[in-house]
Amino acid sequence: MKKHILLLLFICFSTLTFAQTELSKLTVENLSNPIGIGVKAPRFSWKLVSGKRNVKQTAYEIQVKEGGKTVWSSGKVASEASIFNKYAGTPLVSDSKYTWQVRVWDNQGNTSKWAGGTFGTALLNTNDWKAKWISSGLKSDTVNGIVPMFRKSFSAKKIASAKVYVTSRGLYEVQINGKRMGDSYLAPGWTSYDKHLQYQTYDVSSMLSEGKNAIGVLLGSGWYRTRLGWENKQNIYGKDTALLFQMVIKYADGTSETVVSDTSWKVSNSHILSSEIYNGEIQDARLAQKNYSTATFDDSKWTPVVAKDFPIDYITASINEPIRKQEHIKPIAVLTSPKGETILDFGQNLAGWVAVSIQGKSGDQIKLSHVEMLDKKGTPYFENLRSAKAQAIYTLSGNGVETFEPHFTTFGFRYVKVEGITGKINPNDFTAIALYSDVTKTGSFETSNASVNKLQSNIQWSQRGNFLDVPTDCPQRDERLGWTGDAEVFSRTAAYNFNVDQFFAKWLIDVAADQKENGAVPFVIPNVLKGSGFDMPVGAAGWSDASIIIPYNMYVSYGDKEIVERQYPSMKAYLGYVRGAAKNDLWNTGFQFADWLSYRVDDSKGMIGMKSAITDNYLVAQCFYAYNVEIMIKAATLLGKTEEVKEYQSLLERVRKAFQTEYMTASGKLISETQTAYILALQFDMLPENLRAQAVERLVKNIESYEYHLTTGFLGTPFLNPVLTRFGRNDVAYKLLLQDTYPSWLYPIKAHGATTIWERWDSMKPDGTFQDPSMTSFNHYAYGAVGDWMYRTIAGIDTKEAEGAGYKSIIIKPELGGNLTYAKGSLETNYGLVSSSWKIENNKFILDVEVPANTNATIEFPTNKLETIKENKAVLNAKTKTVGSGKYHFEMEL
Ligand code: BGC
Repeated sequence: MKKHILLLLFICFSTLTFAQTELSKLTVENLSNPIGIGVKAPRFSWKLVSGKRNVKQTAYEIQVKEGGKTVWSSGKVASEASIFNKYAGTPLVSDSKYTWQVRVWDNQGNTSKWAGGTFGTALLNTNDWKAKWISSGLKSDTVNGIVPMFRKSFSAKKIASAKVYVTSRGLYEVQINGKRMGDSYLAPGWTSYDKHLQYQTYDVSSMLSEGKNAIGVLLGSGWYRTRLGWENKQNIYGKDTALLFQMVIKYADGTSETVVSDTSWKVSNSHILSSEIYNGEIQDARLAQKNYSTATFDDSKWTPVVAKDFPIDYITASINEPIRKQEHIKPIAVLTSPKGETILDFGQNLAGWVAVSIQGKSGDQIKLSHVEMLDKKGTPYFENLRSAKAQAIYTLSGNGVETFEPHFTTFGFRYVKVEGITGKINPNDFTAIALYSDVTKTGSFETSNASVNKLQSNIQWSQRGNFLDVPTDCPQRDERLGWTGDAEVFSRTAAYNFNVDQFFAKWLIDVAADQKENGAVPFVIPNVLKGSGFDMPVGAAGWSDASIIIPYNMYVSYGDKEIVERQYPSMKAYLGYVRGAAKNDLWNTGFQFADWLSYRVDDSKGMIGMKSAITDNYLVAQCFYAYNVEIMIKAATLLGKTEEVKEYQSLLERVRKAFQTEYMTASGKLISETQTAYILALQFDMLPENLRAQAVERLVKNIESYEYHLTTGFLGTPFLNPVLTRFGRNDVAYKLLLQDTYPSWLYPIKAHGATTIWERWDSMKPDGTFQDPSMTSFNHYAYGAVGDWMYRTIAGIDTKEAEGAGYKSIIIKPELGGNLTYAKGSLETNYGLVSSSWKIENNKFILDVEVPANTNATIEFPTNKLETIKENKAVLNAKTKTVGSGKYHFEMEL
């Protein structure tokens, strides 16, 4: 009996506390308890958690303290804002630790408990840097020469705390007292190194001890000077790599000390004989200087480093997540090629590397060659890597079991050819490790169709494979560049799968930094094609437009207004460029990629009756011109720039008129009779309203003429299904989604078991041969841009824009089709989890929705039998319902 009462009390108590509004997932500048904040007014966010419905924040209070002293108290602020509230206290001090707490009041009379977090500042002023740039000065330290290692020993008193601020021209890996510092890889990441370089902050308090200590650093070429692009350009940012290192130690006795990179450091060759982004890495374990980062190591043979006077004023604290090791995958099979080669199959195309644990004789050499595909006969396919060797070569020292993995390179692969192992290979000795920016996974999506689920998995894997500090086109061949067009078309999908706000915020800084004087935005960012034929002072529609489209997409996805504010001058300058390139409001000059890689007849033989689908370059450009202006109107509205809003509104009208005069007949036929032409014209409202219905008919006819195959390229594909859905042809959109013969999204899965999105619709052709190896990647996210429509339309999760951006005002609008019997999607937004999950049972449609606190959602039901729509037992008799936070269950007849 007593037990029962206790249980009852416990249940009452827990429902009571759950019903209370609590705060969770506190962030500062989008990061949880960051230690290296470099901005002077960081932004605080939190999420409200409540078991009750319709909970809204009505007020908040933030307090920030440093060492017990309050440096900011916001007081009670009447506001619903629970994201991105800016610090407004006394100026923050460099290299300090702050605690902060927040509490909120809600509309139901609750006050939350205080919830707290911490943040640390980095070096807020350039003159906080006491460190000097140092280089090895070694002859062997060249672009693909021997990686140098640096060393410094020092004595310390009893430690209270210690932080390291470090960056490099090149890639660094630091050890302290024999242990690796931190878990980030390929640091400091990749930026437009000549204009913008990020440093990172590490808490090393527990790595130091009283007495003697030592620091060791490996410094690889990385993106700084390794060859990049297909024109064999190297040393793009300079010939000498260099290190900048500053450790600030606070002692228990209240004093402090800094240990910085300077000419007292020493240097030697390491056992890494070569390391290049494209070619891979060569290591000789016999040359390893064990314990080189411990205090007792004898460095008497090491030489002094060379000081460099590289600038410091362009260095800023990292704002995005570092690259970390993610999934670890064991081989699923050991294969033998017709030539007798041994191949490991990891079952998943990914970007990263393979860790090897192996025992052998001194001087034994093992060589791993990475490829994405095997040909029809089972032979590794190297041709699409172009000149990238993509190899890891290890020479064993013979000392017991040895573990190898690269330091300053990555590979895009599913298969690894292994050479140098005598005897039977043990697949367990090999682990593929995916490496990518440590962005938080936010989205989940599943349906009753296994192929669609595989497509979703492939989209996510291509995102993982290409979010390596920079959004890249592909991770394997001698390219791997920050192609603006690819990032642009994929950005909204990316923002469903992972939280990419900081990732893009950082990249967009480089978009602005590399922008040309005339406002044109280079095709790749960082612009490593500088000086090549691909570096023109022109902008290409859909590519350079990333400068306008992506900041706005981040605002829509995260409610991050600051990203638009920061990018606005760059956005405006780019639109200025387009306006300058246009004559009479027609953007019809200059180079265009246009609808890149759309269907062409000679692509894959055997598609009888299918004609090439090439859309006029400038028709495409004109549609993107309108898209850019449309976003500029929204951005200017957001920032309160009323004059500019007016100016852009009239520009938009003229741009659309010019389109109609130039590319459309009086009856609404377009000069290019392609899917892409009609899709873009409809998506961007280029056609007069009375001619839209016939345009949709023409589009559908076109799709039918290709027997429900898509023929779109990079720029048409993202809008194909959204346009069909918007204009009431969801039936056709679903047919295209579920099409599994070439060209289609499911063809690579059905015909060839693809595990990622391919660059071309037929990177591998129906007959099992490959497309042109000069441009055939099997890990290219661009066509994965359909993911956005899948979340938005199948699961039905979207956000309103303007005031409702960032899922403050949610739209739940699942649209049925394709014989799907269930779908469930969820998204961890800045306010909390949104989820929409539906199933069809006995012709009944059942929908479960979860709406986070401090938001509202408008739910639109996919039936016209309004009288059958019930929430639990209550009849709603309405097509839509707007709800506050909470969990809801609806049933209706279809
Ligand atoms: C890249 C692309 C890119 C395109 C533009 C290719 O080499 O891989 O994805 O957008 O070039 O030309």
